[in-house]
Amino acid sequence: MMKDTVNIALVGMGTVGSSLIEIFHRNLPLLEEKAGAKLRITWIADLRRTPFKDAVQKPRLTKDWRQVVRDPAVDIVVELIGGYEPARTIVLECLKAGKHVATANKALLAKHWDEVFSTAQDHRVQVYFEASVGSGVPVIQGLNEGMSANRVERIYGILNGTTNYILTRMTSEGLDFARALKGAQKAGFAEADPTFDIEGLDAAHKLVVLASLAAGGWVHLPDVSVEGITGIDVWDVNFARKKLGLVTKLLGIARFDDGKVSARVHPALIPASHPFANVSAEYNAVTIHGDAAGDVMFYGKGAGGPAAASAVASDVVYLARQVANGTADQIPYITRRERKLTMDPIENVVCRHYLRFTMKDKPGVLARIADILGRHKVSIASVHQDGGVRRGVPIVIVTHQAPEGAVQDAMKEADGMSAMIKKVVRLRIEDFK
Ligand code: HSE
Repeated sequence: MMKDTVNIALVGMGTVGSSLIEIFHRNLPLLEEKAGAKLRITWIADLRRTPFKDAVQKPRLTKDWRQVVRDPAVDIVVELIGGYEPARTIVLECLKAGKHVATANKALLAKHWDEVFSTAQDHRVQVYFEASVGSGVPVIQGLNEGMSANRVERIYGILNGTTNYILTRMTSEGLDFARALKGAQKAGFAEADPTFDIEGLDAAHKLVVLASLAAGGWVHLPDVSVEGITGIDVWDVNFARKKLGLVTKLLGIARFDDGKVSARVHPALIPASHPFANVSAEYNAVTIHGDAAGDVMFYGKGAGGPAAASAVASDVVYLARQVANGTADQIPYITRRERKLTMDPIENVVCRHYLRFTMKDKPGVLARIADILGRHKVSIASVHQDGGVRRGVPIVIVTHQAPEGAVQDAMKEADGMSAMIKKVVRLRIEDFK
């Protein structure tokens, strides 16, 4: 059925919702031209009393999202609540009521991927989610459509703006973690619960979305190894940058080798010459390596209201175009597939490592560290001893490529040495190979 007006409801009216309304005000003729239909925001549902006035669109305001579900005139629901619940219930109810959904909610997709897309498929409606990863960077369309001819082999991403902002300030201004975090919170990039950002979970949600698209099957969140940046010491950030030419970033990495998938989020040291080293503040970057296209890099603002709203508005346009043409029920944007994925655990990852041992300054200590590493078959590439800055002497060792499991065992043994003043600090070095 063709339609000349498409009705849109917004559920959740926070930073992104307000920016979306602004885009509608500023660019409505452009959006309508691209959609091929008139676009009307007919509802705004939010628990808070929104003193919202829109003389152009004149949406009805409600605190009860069920009113949106019950209104048969609503074609597209934009879910901007975030988090697992009640967002999951709202999205599922909307899909069951035959409404298409545009969502920015990476947490929901990562945790309930199969349920969301099978419900959409069963009810012949669509879920679009461009803003869920990389905010304003169109990486979802890029991967799902633009690179659809490729077998994806690797994905690397700086996927969280808050942590990238923190690490950028630690690197460039020497701020410690706590002060840099305060700056990020002030700047307004962080999730409602900033532990999602700094503990790496937000990046893990986004990696699940990208990896599931690339693998053609759901990569489950518990199968992603996740480490955040709360333990990062500015001493190591500075040392790595100044003495080793390595920059600290929080990376999401997914690899697809021989039918196996590995997915991990952790801080990593990367060569200062790599383009990711210049991805600063709230910016995100994703490199997707396809067997035909090679490396394709996406870059742009990964956090903040206007950037996320840009992606949500693009979803609305895509959906509205299909609603207007009466084709939205025909081919699912994401086809749910019962593909069983074999996950490769992080213990099998092989990379170089930065190890900092904080030792009592005594003869023979370095020899004992070398002995421990040697017995675990971890080969040393370089050793750096700096004057003691705090208690004890920091000895930094950069290893050759070594398996994660061997390095973990060596660290455990070294932590037991009587000359150790504090636990070994370890950062993986990512060479993007
Ligand atoms: N809190 C997120 C970030 C915002 O810092 O990247 C968008 O997902």
